[in-house]
Amino acid sequence: MPCAVIVGAQWGDCGKGKVVDYYSKDADMVVRYQGGCNAGHTVVVDGKKFKFHLIPSGVIQEKRLVIGNGVVLDLEVLYREIDDLRSKNISPNLLISERAHITLPVHKMLDGLQETSRGKSIGTTKRGIGPTYTDKISRSGLRMVDLLDSGTLDEKIEMIVEKKQKLLRYVYKSDVVLSKKEILDYCLKFRDGLKNYIGDASLEIHNAIKGGKKIILEGAQGTLLDIDHGTYPFVTSSNPTIGGALTGSGIGPKNLNIIIGVMKAYVTRVGGGPFPTELTGQIGNKIREKGAEFGTTTGRPRRCGWLDGVALRFATRVNGFDGLTVMKLDVLGGLEKVKICTAYEYDGKTIKEFPADLKVLEKCVPVYETLDGWHDFSEQEWRDIANKGYDALPNEMKDYLKKIEEIAEIPIYFVSIGPGRESTICMKEIF
Ligand code: GDP
Ligand code: IMO
Ligand code: MG
Repeated sequence: MPCAVIVGAQWGDCGKGKVVDYYSKDADMVVRYQGGCNAGHTVVVDGKKFKFHLIPSGVIQEKRLVIGNGVVLDLEVLYREIDDLRSKNISPNLLISERAHITLPVHKMLDGLQETSRGKSIGTTKRGIGPTYTDKISRSGLRMVDLLDSGTLDEKIEMIVEKKQKLLRYVYKSDVVLSKKEILDYCLKFRDGLKNYIGDASLEIHNAIKGGKKIILEGAQGTLLDIDHGTYPFVTSSNPTIGGALTGSGIGPKNLNIIIGVMKAYVTRVGGGPFPTELTGQIGNKIREKGAEFGTTTGRPRRCGWLDGVALRFATRVNGFDGLTVMKLDVLGGLEKVKICTAYEYDGKTIKEFPADLKVLEKCVPVYETLDGWHDFSEQEWRDIANKGYDALPNEMKDYLKKIEEIAEIPIYFVSIGPGRESTICMKEIF
């Protein structure tokens, strides 16, 4: 069976872009299945850095790219991303689901207003993600297919203006006046550049599967940001977890043959919400600087902490991971000791399962296992080590990796010791 799913195991930014790019070498098609331009996926090839917000990360490997119905699309960001790739002589071979919903400027405005009106802000990316999914669920959203029919577009925008104007005026006490013409012009501005990409994504994926093609389903964000399974309400508004891969691409579960969880060797989080293993002192700062832990989409500093084995086991269970890819091991180089959280202590009890109640999670104190750290190397030296393969890794790092396998009870498929494609040691292929 031909479908592999790549899912974030933590709070996002764990290196999904790099993993998808790497495994795309053997794939025919890469499908983004949820999220929107809140995502920022980085691929580094021959020293060149590419950041993708909506375009699937298989683009550098020149694969068929599909944006599934589960994704929400900011037309301007998408248009610019395609344009930017073209300016680099990369022409994305793209199909956009006609069922994908559209993020309008008013959604971004509402995202900002909602953030400021919340007691405790979520720290969203302000890309209009929550308001777009809200409209989708409340059955008043605008879809890509609507762009193709001027009558429907006109009708739907009229309804959107009416509803949103009331929301802005009466709920947020805003004096912004929405203009139907402006929104219509905005949609029409991008329609011509995008219309030839719009089609039946589910059908094309289905036909590719029938034709024996190999497919990667690319998740955005991560398990702990999932609207159902994450640290609600400090989450995004979609399902990065395995169910989202099916609903967001329009295929059946029996087509999946492998589910890979992407994790960093440590944990990061952008925005608010509990983070039991957060390191607020010197080690946290060192990891942030060395790992360049600043948001790909917003540039915000990411909060950093030790690896959380409780959360990892939870992500493994919720998604049914077959294996893991462990990223950014080089960043921990030079630390005398490294720690992994294996359980939490709460109210005098030891907890091994990730709690749903944030009041509990906030008070959980990590129980750590301490391991020896490994030597630090230059980027070139890490590349040389990657070239030699797994055996050339420092023994302390191998012990750390064994501990991860022991905690998650699944094998590691691939380790990453640098941002570039070449700084990869793949122990198991996915196809
Ligand atoms: P994604 O959202 O999961 O695709 O991850 P991001 O692209 O937002 O963040 C991962 C960052 O780490 C990017 O800047 C990558 O280039 C970088 N990166 C990925 N793997 C490694 C690695 O093994 N070592 C180092 N130092 N950087 C890495
Ligand atoms: P990738 O795909 C890290 C976080 C935001 C905020 C919360 C809700 O690059 O891993 P939203 O704008 O989605 O309503 O914000 O989710 N968030 C991410 N954090 N990586 C991401 O994407 C994220 N996308 C959203 O910081 O805490
Ligand atoms: Mg990212």
